[in-house]
Amino acid sequence: MIDTPSSHPPAAPGAAPADASQPRNIRSFVRRTGRTTVGQAKAFADVGPKFLRPYTGAPMDFAATYERSAPTILEIGFGMGEATAHIAALMPEKNFLCCEVHTPGVGALLKRIDEQSLTNIRILQHDAVEVIDNMLPLGSVDGAHIFFPDPWHKKKHNKRRLIQAPLIAKLAARLKPGGYLHCATDWQPYAEQILEVLSAEALLRNTADASNGGYAPKPDYRPLTKFENRGIKLGHGVWDVVFTRV
Ligand SMILES: C[S@@+](CC[C@H](N)C(=O)[O-])C[C@H]1O[C@@H](n2cnc3c(N)ncnc32)[C@H](O)[C@@H]1O
Repeated sequence: MIDTPSSHPPAAPGAAPADASQPRNIRSFVRRTGRTTVGQAKAFADVGPKFLRPYTGAPMDFAATYERSAPTILEIGFGMGEATAHIAALMPEKNFLCCEVHTPGVGALLKRIDEQSLTNIRILQHDAVEVIDNMLPLGSVDGAHIFFPDPWHKKKHNKRRLIQAPLIAKLAARLKPGGYLHCATDWQPYAEQILEVLSAEALLRNTADASNGGYAPKPDYRPLTKFENRGIKLGHGVWDVVFTRV
């Protein structure tokens, strides 16, 4: 049979549309080699067993994972975990489910968890796209953070960008009604793409009006990281985009 969009069955709720143009063999990351420091390795050994969760491919039970019932926020691509730890400390009443593939970054966040005695973070060292697909029940998360996703500047690499319609459709379906999606980027063409993709998703509504082109003021909880401060000093812009689920 010729594989045309009309030959596909209708997409299940929360699944990517049948004609989704985000093939799963194109990842939004490259597995970078990077040195894990002695401190990060020690954090893996000391607190890893408590805060790392394996990728199982089965739906997660948040109450069992966090040993409490609390609103749960997903973070995709936390890098070295600077903003993650800051926000988790600011909001002890929320659970943070944090996905990152880069081993030194995971070690760095484990180190911060240990140093700051944080208890409300769990880490999945795995592709967040597969976590969303297979481990997050529909309507299960209260918010999602995607801060400075890899911009994939070159045109031929744009297809690797995380924030594209199929992924956003799946993510929106995993938000509870009233839940939010907060993205931030310092790359204007990506900011424009994010705004366009989120605006086109039927389950999402922009929290910002048109006065700043649809971009939101930076929510207070998102800290200015070292990387962002450096950019601001160089005169670079940063765009926050905050939508809620209907
Ligand atoms: C440019 S960094 C930004 C890190 C951090 N959010 C910040 O603001 O500094 C993007 C991160 O996203 C991670 N990443 C990209 N795609 C991912 C995916 N599908 N699942 C998990 N992590 C991903 C990369 O490994 C990288 O560390």
